[in-house]
Formats: sequence, C-alpha cells, structure tokens
Amino acid sequence: MYKKSRLAFNNAKEKIPGGVNSPVRAFKSVNSSPIFFKKGIGSKMIDIDDNEYIDCISSWGPLIFGHCNNEIIKSVNEAVINGATFGACTPIETEMADKIIEYVPSIEKVRMVNSGTEATMSAIRLARGFSKKELIIKFSGNYHGHGDSFLIKAGSGAFTLGLPDSPGVTKNTAKDTLTAEFNNLDSVEKLFIENSKNIAAVIVEPIAGNMGLVIPEKGFLEGLRNLCDTYNSVLIFDEVMTGFRVSKGGAQELYGVNPDITTLGKIIGGGLPVGAYGGKKDIMDMLAPEGPVYQAGTLSGNPLAMSAGLTTLKMLDKNIYLKLEEISNKIQAGWEKNIKETNTNACVSRVGSMMTLFFTNKKSIRNYNDALECNTTMYAKYFKLMLDMGIYLPPSQYESLFLSSVMTENDIEKLISSNKKALEILKNE
Ligand SMILES: Cc1ncc(COP(=O)(O)O)c(C=O)c1O
Repeated sequence: MYKKSRLAFNNAKEKIPGGVNSPVRAFKSVNSSPIFFKKGIGSKMIDIDDNEYIDCISSWGPLIFGHCNNEIIKSVNEAVINGATFGACTPIETEMADKIIEYVPSIEKVRMVNSGTEATMSAIRLARGFSKKELIIKFSGNYHGHGDSFLIKAGSGAFTLGLPDSPGVTKNTAKDTLTAEFNNLDSVEKLFIENSKNIAAVIVEPIAGNMGLVIPEKGFLEGLRNLCDTYNSVLIFDEVMTGFRVSKGGAQELYGVNPDITTLGKIIGGGLPVGAYGGKKDIMDMLAPEGPVYQAGTLSGNPLAMSAGLTTLKMLDKNIYLKLEEISNKIQAGWEKNIKETNTNACVSRVGSMMTLFFTNKKSIRNYNDALECNTTMYAKYFKLMLDMGIYLPPSQYESLFLSSVMTENDIEKLISSNKKALEILKNE
C-alpha cells in the first residue's frame, strides 16, 4: 500500500537528515515511516502510491480553503509573470499590512518576514529592545518555532522527540528564558515577583496547539495582560496557528484580550512561506530603519507570498468561520459519541477548526503535565488505523488537527465512521 513512499523515504534518508526537512514529518512518534505526496485537491491528498486521504492537517494550518484553491492559484500565477522577487518595495506589501491591521484588533503596524520562527525571534528582540529588559517567560508545552530562546520545554516536534532542550542552545541563552505553567497564573506571578525588574516579555500561544489543543481557562489571558501591565512587560500572543483560524481577528478577538505584539504565519501565506509580527505603533517604530532594533530579510514581503496571502485574507468572511464551526462541531460530536459507545479513555478538545483527540482518562487537558500523561502508544496505533482507512491525521498526539472549509458531508461521515472502527479495533486488542 505504501511501497513507493517507503522507497522514497529510504532514498531521502541518504541525502536529507532523517529524510525530512522538518522533524515531525518523519512519523517517529507514531513508530511509522512517512507518506510522500504528489497532489492535493480540495480536502484530499494523493500519495505517490495513489492512495487518497482526507487531509486533517491542512499543511499544519495554512490551507484553510483546502488544496489548490482556484483564486489563490490565479493570484500566484499573475504575480509570478511580473517577477518573483525584486528585493525592493511593492504596493502589495502595504495592501497586505492594511488587511492585517483591519482584521487583527491589536495591530497598528506590521512587519512581514518569511516564517513563524522568524516572527517570534524578531518579536522577542523587539520586546527586549523596547523594554530594555532581558528575560522572557514562556509556557511549558508552548512552541514558538525553533529559535534558541524557545527550545526550552517546547511542545510539538521537540516534545514529541523527547528533546526539550536541544544541544546547540547555549546555557547563557537558556537562562534568559523562564518557564511557567499554562493555565496557571500563580506560576507566572511567582516569576514576576522573583525577577520583577527584568522581564522583557511574556510569550504565549493564546490557545495552545503544540501539546495537542489546550484551551485557555477563563481569566488566564486577562491575567497575563494584567501582570504585564503591572510589571511593565510586553505581552506577546503567538498567533502563528490561531491567527485568522479561530476567527478573522485570531484568539485575541475571540477572547477579547489585546497583546502588545502579535506573531503571525501559516494562513497569511496562503500556502507560501510567510510570517509577520505587528503591534502598537510605539513598539513597532523601534524597528530599523525607524528605530534601533535591527531586523531584515532578502525575501521579506515577497510578491508571490503576498499575493497568495492577500487573496486568502480577502476570502475570509463570516460564512467561512460559520462553515468551519459546523464541520468541526459535527466531527467532534461524532467522535465523542464513538468514545462513549466504545468506552474509550479519551477526550476531544476543540476551538473552531483546531481540535485534538487525547487518549487520556482525564476529562480535559489543562497543561503540559496533563498532556505528558496521555497514552501515546494508543495514539500511534490509532493514527495507523486511521491512515490505512484514508484519514491523514497529525503524526503525533501532541499536535492539533486543522480542518478546512472545503470538507464535504462525505468527508465528515467518513471521519466519524473510521474513528468508530479504529476505536472498536483498539478496544478489542
Ligand atoms: C505557535 C507557533 N509559533 C511559531 C511556529 C513556527 O512557525 P514556522 O514553522 O513557520 O517557523 C509554529 C509552527 O508550527 C507555531 O505553531
């Protein structure tokens, strides 16, 4: 069934470290080997062995309109004819900035970069430059890309591979990152009290997506806002996943809490490589050439990426979010019914079209420690059963699903019936 993918992986391993260009793609945490793809159409992906899958990942978030959306293809085609890159100013960059400022409540000015990692690394430098302080607080199980300062109790790939602290990150860098517990304001306040004068910023995934989907409890984000105000620190929402996904204005719009800086990625690229960070004017104006904090990029604001991203943002209307909610709600309800009927130790966590099925006997997952207790062996088996039935899930318990608005009723039914079959097989093992 996966013969060509197996061969392609063996070949890739000869030339690419681990055979992949991003670790989670290697399927290590589900004890398997990766599938190689050749085509995406709407909600489906076809692998090089001609197997078809319902895509529940959407390239880890960007493909909110599914694969090969006609409008996005058209806009990229039109852009490439005029030149792939100039390394100089183009009007579409201001159009893009305009749209981001229109949608995201707290952003007054925005700088484009090329990835989510670049956005978070730059945001931290900017926060330090602005506040003239040095330490940052992050949360266990939150992932903010692979910048050195963030590879400390990072979720997702590092978590999955058991590499919470990567070799190559110096002790001096690591000591500037303090770690608190998600959904635990006391743990944050304690760090503020102990280091009151030197916390430059708190960075948080407002809805955590990198230890599986973990929802912020009532008051948590507001509490972070208050602590940052009290101690004169910069609050950074990393909305690389949640931006334009959980609502047009991201998690900050959904929960009504405004950060000082927001980092973005994924959907703003419409499938091309993009990141961005934006915030209050006085903070953003600290950036070069206006201010002293340096940050630059040869391909930043690249015309192809701007075209794909802007087209995507323009297509985001209220109906898309209603549709995503309807699709995701049906899947959640179906899966929860199956969990109950098969008496499986599991729960489903969801915000909009981001969702995770946790194999746990807990009613919900609140933080990293809860997530660590999940049954990852069970998840690996579940993943493989679903894959064989044509459902492409995240190859890790600690990732979220990203559902797309082009999922059909047939897709939803298949997702629910396959889930039931998989849970029944696991029960009878
Ligand atoms: C919340 C969050 N921040 C930052 C990043 C890094 O983005 P990128 O992979 O584009 O560098 C990710 C990637 O998944 C993410 O989930």
